[in-house]
Amino acid sequence: MLITLFNAILIIVITWFAYLYFDLREKAMPAHERYSQLLRGVSSIVDRLEGYDKAHSSEIAGLSALIGEASGLNNEQLQSLNAAAMLHDIGELLLPRSIMKSNKRLEGDDLELLRTHTLLGELHLKSQIDGLDEVPSLIRWHHERWDGLGYPDNLKGEEIPVAARIIALADAISAMNTRRSYRNRQFARAEDIVAEVTRLSGMQFDPQLVKNWLAIGSPLECKPK
Ligand SMILES: [Fe+2]
Ligand SMILES: [Fe+2]
Repeated sequence: MLITLFNAILIIVITWFAYLYFDLREKAMPAHERYSQLLRGVSSIVDRLEGYDKAHSSEIAGLSALIGEASGLNNEQLQSLNAAAMLHDIGELLLPRSIMKSNKRLEGDDLELLRTHTLLGELHLKSQIDGLDEVPSLIRWHHERWDGLGYPDNLKGEEIPVAARIIALADAISAMNTRRSYRNRQFARAEDIVAEVTRLSGMQFDPQLVKNWLAIGSPLECKPK
């Protein structure tokens, strides 16, 4: 696959953001806030280029945080969850623009190519930045499914790290309520989203996480990021 000049520039910008983050952290600046801002900056580039009608990555990070807290994740896990949720689709930047800007639902080779964004995201972050711990792996597995029918590794149930299961759930919930360049919003009403997620509980989604999400009470609420 040829990487276009446009893609290459994007990669440089993102890598620069990441470098800046680690540099700031080293200098013991108010790291948490700086880190959040940098993650927001990178993820907003991804969202804009992928044709979302809103801050998709921030929304997923906010929803993931709520589900993570409701599921008893500790602080360290929540931090990895946040970074992985903000950057989950970063591999899409390495795909040809024709794939990402397509107005039709992708099939065949194009769909397979789109699915490589999980591996590209993992590989790029691993090769460019040290110390991200499990974040690249969470990005690799954010499209795995509880029933083993996801990708890229067909992991099943608790073989999938809990943070990746949370991102998968939050990503799907957000997608049902988001318009992208190639399709309209799937469901307009919150109760329809709840019904669809409940229907897919135990198949696409970890049933315990679905319960934890429902227990939050306001299903489409997100923690501001
Ligand atoms: Fe994705
Ligand atoms: Fe996504």
